Amino acid sequence: MPRMKRIGVLTGGGDAPGLNAVIRAVVKSASNAGIQVVGLEDSFDGLIYPEKSRILGPRDVTGILRLGGTMLGTVNTGNPFLAPIVTPQGTFDYGDRVVEMFGQMELDALVCIGGDGTLAISYEFYKKGIPLVCVPKTIDNDIVGTTSCFGFDTAVSFATDAIDRLHSTAEAHRRIMVVEVMGRYAGWIALHSGVAGGADVILIPEIPYDLEQVAQCIRDRDKLGARFSIVVVAEGAHPKDGGFMLIEAAHGGHVERLGGIGIRCAAQLEELTGKESRYVVLGHLQRGGSPTAFDRTLATRFGGKAVELLMKGQFGKMVANHPPDLVPVPLGEVVGKTKLVPLDYDLLLTARALGVSFGD
Ligand code: F6P
Repeated sequence: MPRMKRIGVLTGGGDAPGLNAVIRAVVKSASNAGIQVVGLEDSFDGLIYPEKSRILGPRDVTGILRLGGTMLGTVNTGNPFLAPIVTPQGTFDYGDRVVEMFGQMELDALVCIGGDGTLAISYEFYKKGIPLVCVPKTIDNDIVGTTSCFGFDTAVSFATDAIDRLHSTAEAHRRIMVVEVMGRYAGWIALHSGVAGGADVILIPEIPYDLEQVAQCIRDRDKLGARFSIVVVAEGAHPKDGGFMLIEAAHGGHVERLGGIGIRCAAQLEELTGKESRYVVLGHLQRGGSPTAFDRTLATRFGGKAVELLMKGQFGKMVANHPPDLVPVPLGEVVGKTKLVPLDYDLLLTARALGVSFGD
């Protein structure tokens, strides 16, 4: 196999704390192995528009380990293959142009850091002949084939801190506090932050709820003398007889945006229990700020492993965490799937054993 001389690195999809740590690890480990790294801005746009790429050396990534966001920028605008690309050089088919520019930029391979959308796009380019390795990123923890992704621990830590803070005000006013967390169609953030924060009720997409069951749990707590309750609800949670709450429906290649379940649960619980209820939506605060030590470490390991896989010619793979190892998993086994919380997951069973209500 010819020696790698020049690789590109890009970040795609919604940001997650730890992206910069991966970029830093890729740039440092590749540079130390004699490979030049080109930073591509705004996901694959960095291959299309010449002004959106630049060479990155170790000096360029100094000090970014602890920073949230991504120094390369990212885009989360749906399926890019649907529309042609208009550039000063002309109008092109998106896929063809990326492949053409990859060749023109004399790149040997790519490291693509992203969530399910970016993994799927990367897989298409791999099938079109671009050698690449992917690094999985998501706060939602919903990528199959890996036990964890960087970003999740930071999001859970933030949500747990928020739940901790809500306890005292809920107790002072003897209220129901509903906390809406992210996670799309998976309940990982809600379950982990709910258990870590000592929530009384946790509603997740994997377990459609009956709000009367939740109301009964809250009444039972009142009878015991605990006259406040904390309800953590995942943005994708939904009642047994209803669908997802949406802020925006899917359109023109953009995916639907979930949200609104928190305010709805708070209003309905107030009506069912007669107790004052308030709600908080943690939203993008869960994606901001500095990554935790766990996420920095995992992101750094992912970045180093991605370069190692490229050097070994292991293309079309995603770096996956299979503790205690990092292993390559074929992209074809990963794309188009969602890792949901298994109903026999030990944390879920333990939460039930402790008396947490899932509204079922
Ligand atoms: O996938 C990460 C995530 O933060 C989800 O939890 C959330 O539903 C979505 O992205 C929000 O996307 P956007 O930043 O486009 O509003």
